[in-house]
Amino acid sequence: MLVSRFSVSLEVELLEALDHYVADNHFPNRSQALRQLIERNLVEKKWQCNHTVAGAITLLYDHHKREVASKIADIQHEALKEIIAVQHIHLSQDLCMEIIAVKGQARELTTLADKLIGLKGIKHGKLVMTQSDSLSENEKAAHHHHHPHS
Ligand code: NI
Repeated sequence: MLVSRFSVSLEVELLEALDHYVADNHFPNRSQALRQLIERNLVEKKWQCNHTVAGAITLLYDHHKREVASKIADIQHEALKEIIAVQHIHLSQDLCMEIIAVKGQARELTTLADKLIGLKGIKHGKLVMTQSDSLSENEKAAHHHHHPHS
């Protein structure tokens, strides 16, 4: 495989975070770690298209801010097609966590997650998607042709 070298400018904090990542994951060097991070990110980008994927949206928010909970519920009622299950966990007296299991087109799931995570009052939110080509046999057949996003 042809390998190119290039230099990268990083803030000190980012570089420290990268070195922690290298150590924590037992990478032999920074290049290996960067390679994995880039690959993962580009793979996720490819999912911004029609692939059927399964995933989970995790939300963390203040229990006392009732308008957040109400808006989360509103958005979920509009996304019945994508949402499989919702688990609400009362983490502490002040904190709620909601784990929303989703299935559908990666593009739709990303839009849904962005809507939820972007709500005012959400302390932390993340969408995790897992490629699941076997979810739909029709889709698998449809991906034999060239894909403009790949
Ligand atoms: Ni709660």
